[in-house]
Parts: sequence; structure tokens; C-alpha cells
Amino acid sequence: MSTPLIGVSKSILKIKELIKHVANTCLNVLITGETGVGKEVVAQSLYSESARSSKNFVKINCAALPETLLESELYGYEKGAFTGAHKKRPGKFLTADKGVLFLDEIGDMPLALQSKMLHVLQSGEFSPLGSDQEFKTDVWVIAATNHNLEESMAKKTFREDLFYRLNIIKIEIPPLRKRKEDIPPLIEYYFRLYKSEYPDNQGSRPDSDVLAKLCNYPWPGNVRQLQNCIKKQMILNSWEKIFEELPKEHPKIASHLLNENPQNGSSYYTNNDFSNARTRIISEFVDLSTSSDKLFEDISLKKIKKLASDKVEKEVIAFVLEKVGWNRSRASKILKISYKTLLYKMNEFEVHPPVK
Ligand SMILES: Nc1ncnc2c1ncn2[C@@H]1O[C@H](COP(=O)(O)OP(=O)(O)OP(=O)(O)O)[C@@H](O)[C@H]1O
Ligand SMILES: [Mg+2]
Repeated sequence: MSTPLIGVSKSILKIKELIKHVANTCLNVLITGETGVGKEVVAQSLYSESARSSKNFVKINCAALPETLLESELYGYEKGAFTGAHKKRPGKFLTADKGVLFLDEIGDMPLALQSKMLHVLQSGEFSPLGSDQEFKTDVWVIAATNHNLEESMAKKTFREDLFYRLNIIKIEIPPLRKRKEDIPPLIEYYFRLYKSEYPDNQGSRPDSDVLAKLCNYPWPGNVRQLQNCIKKQMILNSWEKIFEELPKEHPKIASHLLNENPQNGSSYYTNNDFSNARTRIISEFVDLSTSSDKLFEDISLKKIKKLASDKVEKEVIAFVLEKVGWNRSRASKILKISYKTLLYKMNEFEVHPPVK
């Protein structure tokens, strides 16, 4: 049985409304959002509400398989199509015929397969690997990703034409920290679910203080993380322990803290934690342990700006070089700097390929 889409926030109510409207149109849908926000739950809801719910819901994770395997999983193959193809196998496109094909983590699909996918979506036809036979397919394609596909298109790692094919209807699920009203009903739903799943374990529900804390935590792992906490509470029955173990260091938490004004309203974090997040960033560039006089002497916005920008530049250059297997010419094109500038910066920042 699929999970119901729990939530009372404006954004979830809007999504529920959209699901009802879209379910029978079979227009391609692209679902976006951070990890654990419920992209698969939304895909399942679209399917359940549609007339295709009596047919198959077929999921394929485009990030989990290497290119050749992903291709054979999607389109199927004939016996002998490649080494190891001992017998003919239908692909997901065929299994999903008249139903739904859920392309999870579409942002990770290799470029070569993106072109083939575009062709199949345009023509509705495909051939299994090693076969001359053309199959006509009628699938409703729902895709999901936690990548920013606009950025991927700018970097040329995602095809623009495929993006527009998939993104006919866009469903953007906000992170849980931006829809805190959903936290109490989600807690209630998972408490009930786990009470019946683990009848011997009787963790107590949160009282109002605990609930306020749970609502103010930024949940970098979103609903999945909240769900796991409730499961843990059923077994440990100690909110204190659960709070102790909640991660406080996470890039999403840091940016949330910096954007939140801790003076306004209650926060899961104290002002101390907030200033910690800020001082952690500053302390990378200035020695905060010195006396105020010395500290103020050391602080120069111009100097810090240079140090911070050098640090980010170095990381970005190393990141791109690693991604392209240290192909400097490709990296310079991606970074939109000249080859010569890249070499100069690699030397300046001491970015070198790993020694084999
Ligand atoms: N609105 C919701 N109501 C009920 N359960 C939810 C909701 N959103 C998420 N969940 C639960 O949280 C977990 C994560 O959801 P899901 O797998 O759909 O997230 P996702 O966005 O696909 O994450 P990922 O990007 O990591 O694949 C699942 O166990 C799901 O049942
Ligand atoms: Mg998912």
C-alpha cells in the first residue's frame, strides 16, 4: 500500500490539489525537492489518483545503475545482445505500458541516454538492445530529482530539450523546515503507523515543549529523518536522547541559521548556537581567540574577502577537475576561463591530480 501524502501546509495542500488536476491528463511531471521531502510519495499519489492505477507503477533509479545497465533496464534486450544476455528480457518501458514509468534521480542520467530518452518520449517508439523490432509504448512519465536542473543545463550536463519534455508540469516540494505546520500531523501519522507495526514498543508522544523543539529543528534530511526519529522514539522512549543525537552540523543547517533571525520567535537553537554558526565561518579566516584589540586590528573586509574567494575558487576548480578526470581543457571550458588561467590558478592554489 502506498503512503498517503500527509500535510496541512499551504504548499502541500496546493500539491494535493495539483495532483487531482494532473492525474488524468497524463502530462509529463517533474518533481523536485531536497532528499527525503516526499518526491516518491507524490509520484505514487499521482499514479493512485489516475485511471492508470490498475496498471503498473514502474520505478527506475537513474543514479543507481551504470550507463549500459541503465539502458538495458529501460529498453530491455534480446538474447545475445551483449555478453551476459543469456535470455531475452523486457525493459521498464514495456513493463510500464499503459501505466506509469517513474524516472527517479533523472538529473543523474548520462547524456547519451538522455538523447535516446528524448527520442522515445517524442516518438513513443523504442527498440530493445540487439533487436530491429520497434515497440510502441504508452507510458506516463513522472520524473524526480534533487538536482537543480537549471544549473545542470547551464553546465551542459542535462539536455535542455529533455528538460522541457519532462517539465510540462512541475511539482516543487519545499523542505520540511519551510513548512513546519506539517510536522505535527506527520508525527501523529508515523506514531500510529509504528504503534501498529511494533505493538510491544510504546514510546511516548511528544509533549508541547518537545513538539515545539521538533517543529523548530531544521530537518536537513526532511520527512525521512523525522520518520526515523519517531521510529527510534518507539524503541528508546527518550526524547532527550533523540535530541542529543540530532545532527547540528550540516550545510543546510548552517545556511538556515544564518538566514534565520534568532531574536524573533522561538528557535530550536539558542543565540549561542547561532553565533557559533557565524563564528565558525569567520574563524576560518581570522584568529578569534586573540584579544579584541588585536582581533579588530586583524579584521579587514578586503583581506577576508580575498581569502574566502580564494578558498571557494580552489574548491570549485578541484571539484570540476575531479569530475572531468583531470582533463584541463574540458575543465577550463566548464569554468569559462582560459586554459592558461586554469594552469595558473592550479599552480597558485596547489591543486594537483592525485599521484597514482
Ligand atoms: N508528505 C508525506 N507524508 C507521509 N510520508 C512522507 C511524506 N513525505 C515523505 N514521507 C516519507 O518520508 C520518506 C522519504 O520520502 P520519499 O522517498 O518520497 O522522499 P524523496 O524526496 O524521494 O527522497 P530522495 O530524494 O532521498 O529519494 C518515505 O518513507 C516517505 O514515506
Ligand atoms: Mg526518492
